[in-house]
Amino acid sequence: MKMDGKTALVTGSTDGVGRYVAAQLAAAGARVLIHGRDSARGDALADEIKRTGHGEAVFYQADLSSLAATRQLAEAVLADVRRLDLFISNAGIGSQNQGPQRQTSADGYELRFAVNYLSGFLLARLLLPLLKASAPSRIVNVASLGQHPIDFDDVMITKNYSGGRAYAQSKLSQIMFTIDLADELKASGVTVNSLHPATYMNTTMVRAGGITPISTVEEGGEAILHLAVGDDVAGKSGLFFNGMNQAKAHPQAYDAAARQRLRALSLELTGLAGA
Ligand SMILES: NC(=O)c1ccc[n+]([C@@H]2O[C@H](COP(=O)([O-])OP(=O)(O)OC[C@H]3O[C@@H](n4cnc5c(N)ncnc54)[C@H](OP(=O)(O)O)[C@@H]3O)[C@@H](O)[C@H]2O)c1
Repeated sequence: MKMDGKTALVTGSTDGVGRYVAAQLAAAGARVLIHGRDSARGDALADEIKRTGHGEAVFYQADLSSLAATRQLAEAVLADVRRLDLFISNAGIGSQNQGPQRQTSADGYELRFAVNYLSGFLLARLLLPLLKASAPSRIVNVASLGQHPIDFDDVMITKNYSGGRAYAQSKLSQIMFTIDLADELKASGVTVNSLHPATYMNTTMVRAGGITPISTVEEGGEAILHLAVGDDVAGKSGLFFNGMNQAKAHPQAYDAAARQRLRALSLELTGLAGA
């Protein structure tokens, strides 16, 4: 992997699989834009990358449970860098993080939908002009095999809430957005794909759910890096991968009307409609 001269943004890279991916990209020579909520962990990774002496690292602090903070992150990135070759939308919370009960974001939206999906949707849309100007460039949405169809009459899951359903709805939303955006970006030189990195990696999210890990961070990290830099996926777009292999997502992902509905809703919820 040669990333000299390339710039990559990896959200949620202060911990877990995002941290691994950011470190690998930097080791390959990339300028890596690290992101998370915790400055101490962000600065520690930036220092570690600088000490190893190849790539560069800059830390951006932003809580993606707030759309205003998400916008500020995009604005900071756009102000700081002249090119963006890779955007890995990886930040996320599991089904149990911060408790099993239903919670809402700063904007009043169901928390897992807001953090895992809406913030990545907004970031991608705000960063698109720079990604297009830097083409060929890639977007990778880190989703999951855990997928639950969206009930458009109750997207914020006010009835029959469970953390598992909320997590899985947010992950299918990422996949639907991937297919939708790939259609829009045909011939732009920007590709967008999504994946399930690996099952129950040994990360904070999995441990917080009381689950015994069965995969390593390296395994999931390599699957993300495959979509991010792999030669065999160059030019491919709108796909879902299970680890290293192309796979089928939940049937709702292939329902064009549902994708269109999600797009319209997401534009409205993020304040981008009519912008
Ligand atoms: N672990 C698995 O087995 C597995 C399986 C399938 C898919 N995935 C997906 O892989 C991705 C990474 O998961 P992981 O297991 O590596 O999780 P993790 O170790 O818990 O790391 C999550 C990262 O996201 C950041 N984050 C969480 N909430 C945030 C918020 N409100 N604002 C900004 N940043 C936030 C965290 O930042 P802080 O340092 O501030 O907490 C951390 O950097 C997620 O999208 C997850 O759904 C994981």
